[in-house]
Amino acid sequence: MQPVPTRPAGPLKVTGVALAQVLLFVPVILVFVLIVVSSVLTVVWVGMLLLLGALPLGRLIADAHRRMAAAVTGEPVPAPYLPLPPGPLRALRARALDPASWRDLLWMLWAMTGGFVLSLLVFLLMIAVVTLPLWRYGAVPLMRARSWVDRAILSPGRTEALERRVHDLTASRAVVVDHSAAELRRIERDLHDGPQARLAAVSLSLGLADDLFETDPAAARRLLNEARGTSSTALGELRDVVRGIHPPVLADRGLTGAVSALALDMAVPVELALEVPERLPAPVESAVYFAVAECLANTAKHAGAAQSWVTLHHDGALLRAEVGDDGRGGADLRSGSGLPGVAARLAAFDGILSVSSPTGGPTVVTWEIPCASSSPKTTRS
Ligand SMILES: Nc1ncnc2c1ncn2[C@@H]1O[C@H](COP(=O)(O)OP(=O)(O)O)[C@@H](O)[C@H]1O
Ligand SMILES: [Mg+2]
Repeated sequence: MQPVPTRPAGPLKVTGVALAQVLLFVPVILVFVLIVVSSVLTVVWVGMLLLLGALPLGRLIADAHRRMAAAVTGEPVPAPYLPLPPGPLRALRARALDPASWRDLLWMLWAMTGGFVLSLLVFLLMIAVVTLPLWRYGAVPLMRARSWVDRAILSPGRTEALERRVHDLTASRAVVVDHSAAELRRIERDLHDGPQARLAAVSLSLGLADDLFETDPAAARRLLNEARGTSSTALGELRDVVRGIHPPVLADRGLTGAVSALALDMAVPVELALEVPERLPAPVESAVYFAVAECLANTAKHAGAAQSWVTLHHDGALLRAEVGDDGRGGADLRSGSGLPGVAARLAAFDGILSVSSPTGGPTVVTWEIPCASSSPKTTRS
């Protein structure tokens, strides 16, 4: 992430940037030559090895200029690269196929010619005493001109933005498909191990009772009683399964009602601050509900906390949520299965989850989901 500079730079600061760019002139040339030469040499193996070092160097130098352009213009200049896969060879391939890498090369041509001349000019204007007034008024516009060109070449174009979006969507779709398949398997297993087994037992008891009805009415009655007990257990289990798919309380009382009900069931006191004035789309409500449920369950299981809290705030376009506790900390997104499942489910809605849980606590899990309320004209599908 680029730091966001707060205000545009004055003449002294832009001259500092100009000096840095003048000093980077030679490294830019070297990296440019290295990339071009190693690209040509990829016809033989050694080029691949050279590229392995040259492309990251190119990125390094372009990133440095992104930061400088951001400092001069006062606006961040995001990098356009696609995310790299693990493994050096696959990463090299991804770098080589990323159009942004080759646009960096184009930018180097500018940095070695027009860009260099502008930066050098700004620097020279300051060191020659007679031109100080010129420098005083000219440095900022000149450096801004250079930085705008840097920015235009170095930041993501429309195509890159779309490519990145497609990449993110593909990844989150895969996760959602996996997640749905896993959910189906879980429901199937719950039904199989629970209600299905109970109902089989009920049917067996009823059959036996039917056989014993004439000869041993007392035993038949015992069997009937047993069957009744088993069938109400099966009913309870069926309710649990339904609650695991879409809790009725969520459908009836919405997110705030359902989260309040969750909080009531907790042994640790839960402080609630819920501001969700309108109903959200059902899938979002459900994802948020299960996220809160998982975090509260974690608090009960792992935290040893004395107090926990849940905050939900929907401002019409974005839902922010926070679940925290004052327990021992140490929550980890990678070690268990609950939190990664929650993150995956939220990612399907472009939601972003983050966990802060230093040793000794407190643990705070936050997430944001862009979503409009579910009134007909604003429903997202
Ligand atoms: N609120 C919390 N306080 C302390 N530790 C936590 C908390 N939440 C999660 N953890 C730790 O992070 C791990 C990962 O959590 P999670 O993904 O929900 O897995 P689990 O299935 O073990 O609950 C847990 O095993 C636990 O050690
Ligand atoms: Mg858990």
